[in-house]
Amino acid sequence: MKISFKMNGKNVSLDLDPSMRFIDVVRDVLHLNATKEGCGEGSCGACVVLMDGKSVNSCLLPVANAIGHEFVTLEGLKDTKEFDILQRAFAATGGQQCGFCTPGMIIASYSLLKECPHPTDEEIRAKMSGNLCRCTGYQAIVEAVKIASKEGEGLW
Ligand code: FES
Ligand code: FES
Repeated sequence: MKISFKMNGKNVSLDLDPSMRFIDVVRDVLHLNATKEGCGEGSCGACVVLMDGKSVNSCLLPVANAIGHEFVTLEGLKDTKEFDILQRAFAATGGQQCGFCTPGMIIASYSLLKECPHPTDEEIRAKMSGNLCRCTGYQAIVEAVKIASKEGEGLW
């Protein structure tokens, strides 16, 4: 089946099995390997991508549901000021340790700050509750999002 969508600003049109998971298209077909697979069942947030500006778990999305939508992965954010601010904030607080959850955390933080540029600790914890991290204890991530909120004032 012909499947067309936009990925990181470019039109993509591919012949695919419509039941394929979007994460497999992202990683194995488009070779955008910043997106990680953790649980594979919608519980960890490692596979989060932006779909029309909102974070979604790509492991739960059949590629048929991607038709006509616009997606961004970490590769598509990496030349933006927002990414630079987020990356520096995560490094400054220790919000990035083994790094496995970090692509999903950065995408989720970006989405959160675009929606809510000045979040409270509670809002950060609530909105990022679908993103799991085994290393940081989460407070470093909350602090990173707060720093990014301040550093990116006017950008979010
Ligand atoms: S791999 Fe998709 S939510 Fe865990
Ligand atoms: S930094 Fe290791 S899982 Fe989050």
